[in-house]
Parts: sequence; C-alpha cells; structure tokens
Amino acid sequence: MAEPQAIHLKDYLPPAYLVDDVALKFDLDDHATRVSARLKMRRHPQREAGLPLELFGTALRLTHIAIEGQPLDEGEYRLDAERLVIAKVPERFELTTEVIIDPAANTALEGLYRSSSMFCTQCEPEGFRRITYYPDRPDVMATFTTTVIGDRERLPVLLSNGNPIESGELPNGRHFVTWRDPFPKPSYLFALVAGTLEKVEDHFTTVSGRRVTLQIWVERENLDKTEFAMGALKRAMKWDEEAYGREYDLDLFMIVAVNDFNMGAMENKGLNIFNSSAVLANPATTVDANFQRVEGIVAHEYFHNWSGNRVTCRDWFQLALKEGFTVFRDQSFSADVNSAPVKRIEDVSVLRTMQFAEDAGPTAHPVRPESFIEISNFYTLTVYEKGAEIVRMLRQLLGAERFRAGADLYFSRFDGQAVRVEDFVSSMSEAGDVDLTRFMRWYAQAGTPVLEVEGEYDAEAQVYRLKVRQHTPATPGQPAERKLPLHLPLRLGLLDADGAAIPLWLDGESRGTDTVVELFEAEHEFRFERVPSAPVPSLLRGFSAPVKLRFPYDRGQLALLVKYDEDGFNRWDAGQRLALAAIEEAILALQAGVEPRLDPTLLDVFTHLLDTPSDDLAVLAEMLKLPSEAYIAGEQETIDIDAIHQARRFVTRALGEALEPRFRALFEANQSEVPYAPSFEQIAQRSLKNVALGYLCATGGEEALHLAQHQFEQDRNMTDVRAALTLLAHSDAHQLGDPAVKAFGERWAHDPLVMDQWFAIQVTRPQPDVLDRVRFLMRHPAFSIKNPNKVRALIGAFANLNRVNFHRLDGEGYRLVADVVIELNRLNPDIAARIVTPLTHFQRLDAERQSLMRAELERIRREPLSRNLFEVIEKALA
Ligand code: PHE
Ligand code: ZN
Repeated sequence: MAEPQAIHLKDYLPPAYLVDDVALKFDLDDHATRVSARLKMRRHPQREAGLPLELFGTALRLTHIAIEGQPLDEGEYRLDAERLVIAKVPERFELTTEVIIDPAANTALEGLYRSSSMFCTQCEPEGFRRITYYPDRPDVMATFTTTVIGDRERLPVLLSNGNPIESGELPNGRHFVTWRDPFPKPSYLFALVAGTLEKVEDHFTTVSGRRVTLQIWVERENLDKTEFAMGALKRAMKWDEEAYGREYDLDLFMIVAVNDFNMGAMENKGLNIFNSSAVLANPATTVDANFQRVEGIVAHEYFHNWSGNRVTCRDWFQLALKEGFTVFRDQSFSADVNSAPVKRIEDVSVLRTMQFAEDAGPTAHPVRPESFIEISNFYTLTVYEKGAEIVRMLRQLLGAERFRAGADLYFSRFDGQAVRVEDFVSSMSEAGDVDLTRFMRWYAQAGTPVLEVEGEYDAEAQVYRLKVRQHTPATPGQPAERKLPLHLPLRLGLLDADGAAIPLWLDGESRGTDTVVELFEAEHEFRFERVPSAPVPSLLRGFSAPVKLRFPYDRGQLALLVKYDEDGFNRWDAGQRLALAAIEEAILALQAGVEPRLDPTLLDVFTHLLDTPSDDLAVLAEMLKLPSEAYIAGEQETIDIDAIHQARRFVTRALGEALEPRFRALFEANQSEVPYAPSFEQIAQRSLKNVALGYLCATGGEEALHLAQHQFEQDRNMTDVRAALTLLAHSDAHQLGDPAVKAFGERWAHDPLVMDQWFAIQVTRPQPDVLDRVRFLMRHPAFSIKNPNKVRALIGAFANLNRVNFHRLDGEGYRLVADVVIELNRLNPDIAARIVTPLTHFQRLDAERQSLMRAELERIRREPLSRNLFEVIEKALA
C-alpha cells in the first residue's frame, strides 16, 4: 500500500465540473443496497475546456455508467480504489451511474450504515463518496431529489433532506418516499434515515409567520426522552431570530437519534442526525451536565443551518469558518438561557485543559491547517474551541453592534456560496471598520500564545505601568522564531488594597473600572494615571483571549481577587490560580518526602466563600472545585503523575477536614424536595450539594459515606444518584461501593446511555485494581467495540480521566489502550485516531513512561494503518 499523501491548502483549484441537480434512488438492502444517481453537470466557468471528469468513490461496486444515456465502454473511464475518471465529457451533460454498497459491513460509520434496526448516513466530511461516485467536495453545490425504497414492514419510515413530495406502495411489500431539497447543498450535508422509528412532533412559528413542523424521530423505547431536546430546539430557533436575525427556511425540521455515531451530531439540511447521547434526556437517566450538553448540541446543529449550510466552506481547510462560528453561537445561546458566568467557566476549562494540551502536543495545528492527510483528524478542539475564541475576540474588538452588522453582511453577501475564512473576517472588518490584517494570524499560527505581564507602580506620580509581552512557542512545522505577534483584546481592571475598583485613566481618558486594551506588537506598555495606591490588576477578564497569562501574583493578591473582583470569571480564575499554587506546593513536599501542609491562604479563601452569602450559587459551586489533574499537569514543566494525584487528594482531604461543619451545612442547605428540572438554579443547587458531599467523603469518614449511600438510595434523579455512586465506587469502602455498583448495573441494564455512565464510573476508580475491572467490563454484554459511545465510556474515560492508572509504571494501561486502538484501526479508523490521543501526549513525562508510550506507538505503527491513524502516529513519533 502506498503511503498516504498530504493535501495542501495552497494547491486549491476549483473543480473542473459542477453539479447543478442530483436525483438519487436508494433500494435499501442490508448487504446490497442499490444506489442510482443522475447528475446534471457542466464545466466550471473558471476552468479550461476538455479536462477529465474526476469523481470520488470508495467501496462502491459500479454496475452501470452512462453519459447522456449512452453507456460508457470500459476504455472510456478508469477506476481505482478511490476514484472514477472519465477522460472526455461534453461541456454540459447528464451522468447516470448505479452502484451497489454494503451498509451492514460498514463499521467505519461513514457513508450509509446500519445502526441498531435502522439505516442511516454520515457524509461529513467525505462520506458521500461511500454512497455514490460524486465530486465529493464542499464547493460543489447542487439541489437533491432522493427516492428511498425499503421494506414496508421493517422500514416503515423513510427520510431524507427537504420536504416529502411523493410516496407510494411497490410490489413485494416494498414502499417508497421521494424527498426534494430546494436549497443547493454540498454532498456532505446529504442524509438518509430508514427504520422502525416513532416521532414526537411540535411546531414553531417563525418571525415572518411561517409555521414549521418539528419532528424528533427515535426508537419507541426512547419516546420519553425527547421532550427536553424539543424545548431546546424551539429556544434555539427563537434565539437565532433575535440574536442574529436568522430564520428557518424549510417547512420541516427533523432530528433523528441513532445509537452508533462517531461524533455528537450532524447538521444535514432539514434532517439532523444525532448521537443518541446528544439528544435523549430525562431526569431519571440523565445528569445535569448532559441536559446542558443536549441543549448546546441541539442549538449548535440548528445554528449550522445558516453558519454552515446556507453559507458553507469552500474546502475543508476552512472548517473553522463554520465550526468556530457555530460553537461561538451555541456558547452565546447557552450563556443566555443559563448562567452566563458558569458557561464561560466551563468553556474555558475545556479550552485550557484539552485544547491547550493539543496545542502543546505533536498534532498541534493552526485553526486553519495548511495541510492534512486525513481531514477527519481535524475535527479538533483547536478548530472548534479555539476557532470559537477567535470569533469571540472579534466580537470583543468590534463591540456587539458592529459584530452583528458584520455577521449580517457575511450572511447576506455569501448566502448560497462556499467561502473562506477571509470572507468572514473581511465582512467583520468592513462592517466594523477595523483593520484585521494582523488578526488573520490567529488562523495561521498554531500554539498557545503566552502573555507575560508586569506591573510597576510609581507612588509619587500616581502612575501604574503595565508591561505586556507576548510570544508563541514553537509547534511542529512552525519554529518559535517564525511566530508573529497576534492582535488580541486584553480586558482588565485594577483593584485597590481593600478590593475596591480603581477608576481607570488611560492616556488622559476615563475608562470606567473595566476596559479593553488591544495588543498587536510583541511588547506594549500601558500607563494608567491617577492611581492613588499600588493596585492589584485583574487581567484577561472573561478570558478575553485564548492565551496563557503570566503575572507574578502573590497569594494575598489572588485572595483579594477571589473575594472582590467585579468580574465573576476572574474571581473564579484567581481561585484556580491559588488552588494550583497550593497543590504545587504539596507536590514539591511529596517529591521531597516531607509532609505536605494545607496552604493557609487557600483555607482562608474557602472559609470566606463558605461563610459569605452568595447571590450566584452556580459560580460558588465552580469556585469550590479544585483544578483537575489534567489541568494541573498542563501547568507543570515535567509532569509527575503520581505526585499530582496525591497532592490534589491531599488538598481535597485537608479542606474537607478543616471545613467539615461548613461543608456539612452546605450539603444540608441545598437539599431540595422540589420536582426535578434542569433549570440552572436547580443545577447550581445540586452542584453545590454534591461538591460539599465530595469534600465530606474525601475525609474518609464513615458518616460521610453513609450520606452518599443515603443519597444513592433516595434515587431522586440521575444527577444525585450518579454523584453519590461515584463517591461510593471510588472510595475504599468496598462493602458500600460494590453493592451499589451492582444494583445500578442491574437496574439500568436495558438503557445503553445509562450503562455508558456505569462504565465510566467504574473505570475512573483511582485504586490499582481498576485495570482488571476495565478488562472485565470489555467482556460485559453491554459493551461493544463497534459502538463509539461504549469505547469512549470505557476506554476513553479510563485513558483520559484515570491518569494514575493509565500511566501505571508497568505499562499495562498503555498496552490496554494500544490493543484497543489496533482493533479499532480495522473497524473504525476515525475513532481509533481519537482514542489514541492520550498515548501521544508523552513529551513532558518522565523518561520511563515516555519510552513505554513510544513503544506502544511503535507497536501500533507495525500494523497496516488507516490513513487516520497513520497521520497521528507519524506525527507523534516524528
Ligand atoms: N459537523 C458536525 C458538527 O459539528 C460534526 C461532525 C463531523 C459530525 C464529522 C460527524 C462527522 O456539528
Ligand atoms: Zn458543528
């Protein structure tokens, strides 16, 4: 097999031929589905005449091919494993083909495949070529008419994009439905679903008074889990009208829940297909965080109807054009309908823990990559989350109104087109009347920029100087000396020694108590006047740019910010910095073999938080959470896996012991008899209560564990049950944990989404016996390596969240994950390339672990690798 080759953005050429209209006919069968296609094609006006016609096709058996009704001779076209090339075609022509495909054998879950009892499709980014021969690239947009034929008994429901225009009976117990989508779209937005499905239906009337039918299609046993997603969909539709002036454009909007899906969900025009975990929810089975995830993903896919579908990407290098913008839109929506500060805290946590790790690892890439071997590998935290931060910075730089004007201009100017990142940014620049030339570097430069800030107070002149320097570290293919300064907004304020906000005077101008300064150069100095006393700066408020901020805060200053900063995000962040310092101190103690101590400033701050009535319980709950092991590791120069774990446990336990009565009171005060609702007020309350319970259990006290046991048995809602079960299962008290785990597993054996949680709880147990548990659970009847949710719940959770055991020094954790990766490489290359990620993050570990991890990667490399895994492994071992 030839080595996979990289594709480069700089080589982009428009396609030689365009498709205006497509008629598809699917005759569904498990192993031999017949797909007939009629493409109305013409030469691209900007390409020369006489070029060959190149169509993509993978795993297709061609049974017929004709141009203008004339079947082609074998000599008139060439076929290989990925392409069909016809040497000569007219300027304008109709191409007809027929192929046979095997959906039941499709374990990659790209193209047309079987999931449970249904047929479904996944075409983004390059799955359509597994359905029929086609110029499968996003700059080819066509209208689609799709006829789906299936067994009336087994496949009563037949869905595709757009509106149904015809249906009827056929011989041999078969029937058909024909769908027409009037909006030209790229092939990656095509969708088809067939199966025994039930629907819930609702309606939404758009601003202009059009009544849209909304349907959520599920298997019968999930009908009681659709209500929340339907509500979220209506909220999202309304929000997009108000926040962006975007109205829905078809008469029908459908969501389908499928059990086997590589990602969260997919925005196919009029027919969104969802991983069941991203749409199904009810209080008995779903935790608060997953309700919020469902709401966010439903909104995300809906928002794509404009940011992605009406205006799409020219090529896959532009992926962040639709994803970064749409993530920003769904984040803003969730912030508006829930607690905005908590939403920001959660998004920043994900970014700083996971995206920063990606940006520091071997697969680091710019938000707009310059090359790729397999595009599926670029649906990353960098493209999605850092991509969203870039849009957020644009809004910060332009202000809400001009940002909205820029979005309006973008949508109206490019409606119906496949465009580039430049088109988005220039809309913003034009409507906002700002120069964004340097800003474009955010799309081109990989790595997390570091801001080093110093403050200097001149008491006599009453002047405070802030010196800001920025640099971006080297990343693969981009040495540090080639990194250029970035344009970014730095939001900030100053506090006096009592925590009061100091009025800001910058360059003779009053700026209130909160301002934004812009950086474009490697170094800046900002001179604040009329500063009466030495201030404590509150920097990067709201996390105004995706950077690492370094400022030599002492603990007293951090405590002051926690207590008094007017910016909720920075209060939280100061607390995280303080907790990190306390944990780092404990790490050093453990490494030196001395008793760690609890940092008194941290204890003081926690005492203050617990004693001061708070009007924002949601933020308080976040403030009481310590940084995760993964986040702590990201801040270490060399990562000491065990010391991090021990130190974090030590601090948790010490806080629990020192503040036991207060945590007890917090736990009691947040009990509630009110019927469950996933409202943010209730979520905050449950979160606070369960955080308190966590500290109580960390003391190891029997009484605390009995509180957890009681909460588990009360069985009020999945949030409380899962929190209690996790504490029991992760404790050393087998006599309490084991029966609870067993009871839960038996009770929920019928529900795959709950079993995913059951797997994850068990494999994140910190004790060393967990590895046997992982192996045992891989043989459990509810586990299947072919189902991505199961792989994530069992293997993903183990490798990413159980750091002490994944990184065991006998290498068994690595070996287990590598074995799974090797198996997945044959079954589902996309998931294989994702699940391998933790094995590639060895750069700052000790030599012993590094060599163990490399050895596993080398072992994987000896396999015949999919393109997906090849690309990741080559980069990791480079
Ligand atoms: N485009 C989808 C989304 O973000 C993600 C996706 C990519 C789904 C590839 C499936 C395959 O909304
Ligand atoms: Zn998306």
